[in-house]
Amino acid sequence: MNLPLEGIKIIDFTGVQAGPACTQLLAWFGADVIKVERPGVGDITRNQLRDIPDADALYFTMLNSNKRSLTLDTKTPEGKEILEKLIRESDVFVENFGPGAVDRMGFPWEHIKELNPKIIFASVKGFSEGHHYEDLKVYENVAQCAGGAASTTGFWDGPPTVSAAALGDSNSGMHLAIGILTALIGRQKTGKGQKVAVSMQDCVLNLCRVKLRDQQRLDRLGYLEEYPQYPIRADGKYGTFSDVVPRGGNAGGGGQPGWVLKCKGWETDSNAYIYFTIQSNAWAPICKALNKPEWTDDPAYNTPAARQDKLFDIFAVIEVWLKDKTKFEAVDILRKFDIPCSPVLTMKEIANDPSLRASGTITEVPHKKRGSYLTVGSPIKFSDMTPEIKSSPLLGEHTDEVLADLGYNQKQIAELHEIKAV
Ligand SMILES: CC(C)(COP(=O)(O)OP(=O)(O)OC[C@H]1O[C@@H](n2cnc3c(N)ncnc32)[C@H](O)[C@@H]1OP(=O)(O)O)[C@@H](O)C(=O)NCCC(=O)NCCS
Repeated sequence: MNLPLEGIKIIDFTGVQAGPACTQLLAWFGADVIKVERPGVGDITRNQLRDIPDADALYFTMLNSNKRSLTLDTKTPEGKEILEKLIRESDVFVENFGPGAVDRMGFPWEHIKELNPKIIFASVKGFSEGHHYEDLKVYENVAQCAGGAASTTGFWDGPPTVSAAALGDSNSGMHLAIGILTALIGRQKTGKGQKVAVSMQDCVLNLCRVKLRDQQRLDRLGYLEEYPQYPIRADGKYGTFSDVVPRGGNAGGGGQPGWVLKCKGWETDSNAYIYFTIQSNAWAPICKALNKPEWTDDPAYNTPAARQDKLFDIFAVIEVWLKDKTKFEAVDILRKFDIPCSPVLTMKEIANDPSLRASGTITEVPHKKRGSYLTVGSPIKFSDMTPEIKSSPLLGEHTDEVLADLGYNQKQIAELHEIKAV
């Protein structure tokens, strides 16, 4: 299949999750992604949280599919020369090292663009250039704290909480991928490459945009009507407002109140829950589904404003209705009434979900050492192509092949191995 990014060559000098998630996406869509790794060591995730001795960890295999692996010590003169050659003939150079590491290696942007004015140099850092924290190294949870996610996630009576979703890592990688594709289109017009930079803090914040909305509303009004803290209760049962956006538990944002509700079996199954949304225009069907016809036209219930101070009482009534229904049975009933809801799915349920398997969102990939493993395929679906998710490379699997493409002969390649430059 002819994939849109075929012909685009990417130097993938990334590690852990943020950078690899970006380049993996581009590899799925046809780019030739050459992962550059330190000889004998490789991306640190190859060894992290291993479940099979001597085989690349899932952490690595699930973030590096469809790539080639080149081992290269860029601190040796020979390694630098190879990287320079690669830069001269590549379209994109992606890195997510700690602040200043690429400069110390001898490859600041100024030098990279001298070597190849058409190249796009894409970079992930924890904080943006010039930020008072720009020197900090950053991992996922650090970014979630810096980007406003942690202070606004969790319950009002608990500590700031990080999300299991990789808002700092993979999300930054997705932002970077958009930046790279934009710069590639820009290059078609100008003939010039450019530097594309994202910071994990900014990318988390971009997803917390509505919380900055809420800060401004809170500053003006002193309350936020869709939060469980509203209306303000004397007993403070659901917390109170201060001058900062509070943690809203599982409240639905955007004026469509919702909550995670217990279903049959919740006493022993910690995921026997559904998310139920009281969509304002679906009040009549909700009353019908719950067999509460008396609520439909009752002015004490039939507008969002009237329901506001009774939301938790309504949720309690719904939980009584849910008592004899599993999360799946409940959703099968509620879907007929057009109510936005979902079972709270576990990773085990997701892994075995026939629809996710059929769409390729959960896909099984063969691996030379591991046997086959599950991964998350492309969440982006196209009408004219279905990206094939292939295995991640073994460490240095394509070193000789890439060097030969760069013009090195067998003898030179053997020498480079001998001196451990590759
Ligand atoms: C993720 C992070 C915290 C890891 O930090 P770290 O393990 O200390 O590693 P660094 O990225 O700082 O790099 C370590 C060194 O390895 C060197 N190195 C890496 N690959 C190399 C290679 N192939 N050849 C030679 N040297 C190499 C780097 O040049 C750097 O050397 P220096 O610091 O002595 O100059 C850090 O890279 C970071 O903050 N990155 C930016 C934000 C980010 O992407 N975070 C991770 C999200 S998943």
